[in-house]
Amino acid sequence: MDARTLKIKAAGEALTYVRDGMRLGIGTGSTAEEFVRLLAAKVASGLNVIGVPTSERTAALCRELGVKLTTLEDTPALDLTIDGADEVGPELALIKGGGGALLREKIVAAASTEMIVIADESKLVETLGAFPLPIEVNRFGLAATTLAIELAASRLDLSGTLTLRMTGAEPFVTDGGHLILDASFGRIPDTRALSAALHAIPGVVEHGLFLDLARVAILAGSDGIRTLLR
Ligand code: A5P
Repeated sequence: MDARTLKIKAAGEALTYVRDGMRLGIGTGSTAEEFVRLLAAKVASGLNVIGVPTSERTAALCRELGVKLTTLEDTPALDLTIDGADEVGPELALIKGGGGALLREKIVAAASTEMIVIADESKLVETLGAFPLPIEVNRFGLAATTLAIELAASRLDLSGTLTLRMTGAEPFVTDGGHLILDASFGRIPDTRALSAALHAIPGVVEHGLFLDLARVAILAGSDGIRTLLR
């Protein structure tokens, strides 16, 4: 089964959690886009939901396909967020932000009663960190923030390169106007300690460790769908 088919299967299973009248958080990335397509088909046949998109990219797709959108200003509490992930680890801790939308994704997930992660089963890992951890940083003081992250990581016995994410010759800029450093620490045994250490650095806007947010992970593999609960 090809990767896209697996993403569609995970997205289709997530759709069974969506009820009429729900306020949804709508994720970013190729798997979340499959979810939007399936959701749009249900909306076209009468399902009434409203969604907060986690990126401009997702917002554009929702508009194109006729999924009604709102904002967290107008709808500050959501019922359910459905989003992809770059890695799914123990206790449904996640690495997210491969698509650069981690800040809005985390704000939206935190505003939701439930978060469901959808992915193909290759995203399931025993320890987070093989996928470089995206860290969203303010442009001001980039070199100082980079150094502070390196020092904080070394205190946790983590080392690795921090790479400024680029789009061609220019730095990648998030929807919030910030930059992203991709941190290749390798295995991250203590995700809570790293999360706290990164949050303590003023230039760090947010990081891609999603802890205690996802309650359900729907993972599609060639043998079928696995649903993990926290
Ligand atoms: C977007 O910023 C990310 O958090 C995505 O959710 C993540 O990269 C998963 O994307 P795919 O579904 O394309 O693998």
